[in-house]
Amino acid sequence: MTSKEIRQKYLEFFSSKGGSASGGKSRGHVIIPSASLIPENDSSTLFIGSGMQPLVPYLLGAKHPAGTRLVNSQKSFRAEDIEDVGDSRHHTVFEMLGNWSLGDYFKQEQLSWIFEFLTKEINIDPKRLYVTVFRGNDEIGIPRDAEAVEIWKKLFLSAGIEAKDVDNSWENGLDDGRIFYYGDKNWWSRSGAPAKMPVGEPGGPDSEMFYDLGADLKRHENSPWKDEPCHVNCDCGRFVEIGNNVFMEFIRTEKGFEKLPQKNVDFGGGLERLTMVAQGKDNSFETDMFEHILNKISMLSGGKVYKDNVRAFEVIADHLKAATFIVGDDKGILPSNVGAGYIVRRLLRRAIRYGRMLGITEYPWTKEIAKIVAHDYGDVFPELRKNIDFVIEEFKKEEEKFNKTIEKGLKEFEKFSSFYKDKDWKHLSDFSDVGKKLFDLFQTYGFPLEMSLEELSIKKIYIPIEKMYKEFEEEQKKHQEQSRTASAGTFKGGLADASRETTKLHTAAHLLLAALRKVLGDHVTQKGSNITAERLRFDFSHPEKMTDAQKIEVEKIVNEAIAKDLPVSCEELNLDEAKAKGAMGVFDSKYGEKVKVYKIGEGSDVISYEICGGPHVERTGELGHFKIQKEESSSSGVRRIKAILE
Ligand code: ALA
Repeated sequence: MTSKEIRQKYLEFFSSKGGSASGGKSRGHVIIPSASLIPENDSSTLFIGSGMQPLVPYLLGAKHPAGTRLVNSQKSFRAEDIEDVGDSRHHTVFEMLGNWSLGDYFKQEQLSWIFEFLTKEINIDPKRLYVTVFRGNDEIGIPRDAEAVEIWKKLFLSAGIEAKDVDNSWENGLDDGRIFYYGDKNWWSRSGAPAKMPVGEPGGPDSEMFYDLGADLKRHENSPWKDEPCHVNCDCGRFVEIGNNVFMEFIRTEKGFEKLPQKNVDFGGGLERLTMVAQGKDNSFETDMFEHILNKISMLSGGKVYKDNVRAFEVIADHLKAATFIVGDDKGILPSNVGAGYIVRRLLRRAIRYGRMLGITEYPWTKEIAKIVAHDYGDVFPELRKNIDFVIEEFKKEEEKFNKTIEKGLKEFEKFSSFYKDKDWKHLSDFSDVGKKLFDLFQTYGFPLEMSLEELSIKKIYIPIEKMYKEFEEEQKKHQEQSRTASAGTFKGGLADASRETTKLHTAAHLLLAALRKVLGDHVTQKGSNITAERLRFDFSHPEKMTDAQKIEVEKIVNEAIAKDLPVSCEELNLDEAKAKGAMGVFDSKYGEKVKVYKIGEGSDVISYEICGGPHVERTGELGHFKIQKEESSSSGVRRIKAILE
């Protein structure tokens, strides 16, 4: 079965109106398109990392126009895995097959359907399936998930398997079990375990499904964990997680955990892994999803083969696929030194570096991989084909930029590494300027810090890492003050871009909405926004093209607010209170949770009052001069403004 067939079967299975073996209930999900990889109105991550993320408002209770049962294949990207790519187990970009119940069906239907899908539709041997369930947590008052255990037992029994439930498997091993209890590992929210969830975040117990790649335990015996018991969440590689059923029925509040107004199901399973097990492989790079890409790398490198160059082939394949998806998104992000753009730069440059190691010198070559990606994935994500010329141009530009400095940079890097080669990282005084030098390598020669660190680790050169980061950040700060660009936090796993430039444009977006409402009328509401350090893109409801006079008037109102140097303040209110006080909000939720409201101005001179997660600048005077660069149609009844601060 090809990956295309598996994706199609999943969408068809969940959207089919027909009955099923599990009680004859119609599944009847509506297939929704994949959302953009770049989040809208959500500053929690730089990229969409799971299928549920674009659906959060609906999990919280807003009505989805397509109903209460949804299914799709969502393009997803997880930056935290960049450095791990190359070990045959990690990807940054992947497709998450997802189905959702928005206050509709619950555990019984979900587990029966997904079991049927795995074992009957894509023919996974049920003997190789293992599952985990939430073991309960007294601190938050949520009991173990006995209901899921009972359902699983019956399902396994229907396949002739007696499924035993086992606790403490991380201490005692598998013990012939089939169903295992875990604590935090069986809880899912965007921020992870219950204790990590901020107020207002939805989450719940989950039940994960694992596939056994090698029952002979050899993997475990040959792994660093050989002296510890093997269990399904062990890192030896014997078990691979192929899907997660989240029973999302809780929300974190000031008081603790409360039930959401509705019980939701959030299922997600990686297509790459499902394909891998359905095709009987133990490495997803060996599936049809990567076949053409790896072949192309082989051709470009003069006939080198994947098996002899696993790391380089995987890095190039994953990173250039990811960069094609990100740059080729309808909200495409370009390589830069800040925020999401910095991630794109790292992906492209790490791939180019590994390309050199493979002996690929013919310039420009990265675009050749982009073409294959657009060809292979364009049926499912048509924007990749539509935007391919743009991607090719951007890849060429980035390759050209990096190629200009890479020779010299590598020489500098050699000097750097031979200088520190024989030093002991515990003697801090031997490492004067280590962070400063790495910053220079980044700033002058375009070597992303993470890439330099990886080169050092390949050479087994150890440096005092804390000292390095401290110095690096100091240098960066100095540089920021000079150039007023670049971002703090860029290097911490790719979470929230809170760079200064982005923050300023975010505040400008609030002023823009207020000005649009003044000039065009109260029908204007925000329909989306996308902010990078370079520019602001803002979608709003309005039926017709703006006239030049209207644009000038809007700019004038925003620039007047900037000239007045108004204070920006923030208060926490109940949603109802905020609404009663006239706060603008992008999304209506049903219950009385706390929200942040940002106010620009004070007293009788309040220009904007909006529900928003922040961050914002302290005074509008910091913004500079606001300029609309473009006003155009976004979709029916929605206009789009691109604007900058000069
Ligand atoms: N949202 C769940 C996950 O990403 C399904 O694992």
